[in-house]
Amino acid sequence: MYEDRIRLASLRNKVMSAHDAAELFENGMTVGMSGFTRAGDCKAVPLALADRARQEHLQITLMTGASLGNDTDKTLTEANAISRRLPFQVDATLRQKINAGEVMFLDQHLSETVEQLRSKQLPGVDIAVIEATAITENGAIVPTTSVGNSASFAILAKKVIVEINLKMPTQLEGLHDIFIPTYRPHRQPIPLISPEQRIGVPYIAIDPAKIAAIVITEKADSPSNVLPPDAETQAIAGHLDEFLRNEVRVGRLSASLQPLQSGIGTISNAVLHGLIDSPFRDIRMYSEVLQDSAIELLDSGRMTFASASSITLSKPTYERVLNHINDYKPRLVLRPQEISNHPEVIRRLGLITINTALEFDIYGNVNSTHVSGTHMMNGIGGSGDFARNAHLSVFVTKSIAKGGAISSVVPMVSHVDHTEHDVDVLVTEHGLADLRGLAPRERAVEIIRHCADPAYRGALEDYFTTACRLGGHTPHILTEALAWHARFNECGTMQAR
Ligand code: COA
Repeated sequence: MYEDRIRLASLRNKVMSAHDAAELFENGMTVGMSGFTRAGDCKAVPLALADRARQEHLQITLMTGASLGNDTDKTLTEANAISRRLPFQVDATLRQKINAGEVMFLDQHLSETVEQLRSKQLPGVDIAVIEATAITENGAIVPTTSVGNSASFAILAKKVIVEINLKMPTQLEGLHDIFIPTYRPHRQPIPLISPEQRIGVPYIAIDPAKIAAIVITEKADSPSNVLPPDAETQAIAGHLDEFLRNEVRVGRLSASLQPLQSGIGTISNAVLHGLIDSPFRDIRMYSEVLQDSAIELLDSGRMTFASASSITLSKPTYERVLNHINDYKPRLVLRPQEISNHPEVIRRLGLITINTALEFDIYGNVNSTHVSGTHMMNGIGGSGDFARNAHLSVFVTKSIAKGGAISSVVPMVSHVDHTEHDVDVLVTEHGLADLRGLAPRERAVEIIRHCADPAYRGALEDYFTTACRLGGHTPHILTEALAWHARFNECGTMQAR
């Protein structure tokens, strides 16, 4: 039975239904599940857990790599099965419960969750639920389309449930590079000096005696839901392309740039897509998620290698990659997210990082998470891991949202995820502000001139001029700094009437 998928024969008697496996959970447990931006998440056990939670009081702390697909967060939330959630999510139903204060959400830098688990600064994992391509002869777990936090969850958990997904090609084996840092206080350097280097093993090594259940599934990952490039995102890509070309022209970058990181979402995907027609060559990625644009760059030959923690693709691209995984394997590696996002490695490799802001202010502070300063959108994800440690930290956004009712360039951000110190370049469809080497008052001039929408530019200039009269290194009118957000909450628009 499943000889090629469960190669350690003594584990084959652990195969059971998802509903039987769900009996292992108890109220109040901490559960670590695989899954990172809709890729490599468990498909059956969470649903069986939700079924149980509909019948009885059963709530867990749920940790994952990042967001889940298959509406898993929605289903578990509707079943009232989640009391705490970390470190990231993108689900509308869960978001609503988080913002109602009914689910406690820990919005964490994605590199940090397992560090905190390992050092017992977070409650230990009772059960890990990990999607796998196969279990090896030694009982080690071969992940699927993401690694995320799966390795450390499985290593640290008391019990492990493995979901073997028959939909995943067995040739995925060899794609992963699992490296676990040595424990503190005797931590050694992470010996990774280029994106294509492999420093670990292609499986998650655990004591097979911890595997309490194996559930067989046959379901694809949810396809990504990013939208195709539009006029604004193409304009953003164009400004960044021109900026990077100039960096090459003046000798600050070579034609292969520095390894790239690109964040999640429609805008980041479109910006990376824009590089297909660029003159850059032998590009490499050191990122956490590979979206369609990364695969297009590999297909075009413009990119030679991509390192990440997950592959999240549209349906046609997903099928093409999985059907031809042997062609892609020499040019791809999937790592644990604490390695893909590790500050030490990011700083060493000198990444150009491109992440998306909800809003930024006239001095370059960035809010990526909180709408109007209070309501969680998704979470900081890996953007902080990358931005703080980048060679060149870029943030992109459209200059307006909600049909122009919101300006994404504001006097003061209503929540700070990335301070001005972590931001080198800001880009909207109107232009690019190069903030390197500028003091706050100089940054404000560049940001308002190049990034703000014309409908809001005059008001930003007025704010800045009046603030400068009041003085200060970073001038503000404290009674007005958040008035734009207050006006939006009250009147549905930031525009003064
Ligand atoms: N205020 C309120 N809402 C705003 C806004 C603002 N200033 N700017 C954008 N939005 C809304 C948009 O209207 C859109 O709403 P909708 O879903 O109702 O249409 C939503 O935010 C998403 O914006 P969109 O323009 O489609 O961008 P995106 O898909 O690229 O997502 C982020 C943008 C910021 C939400 C997303 O990139 C994110 O969650 N980032 C944080 C995590 C991260 O950066 N990870 C990177 C490492 S992988």
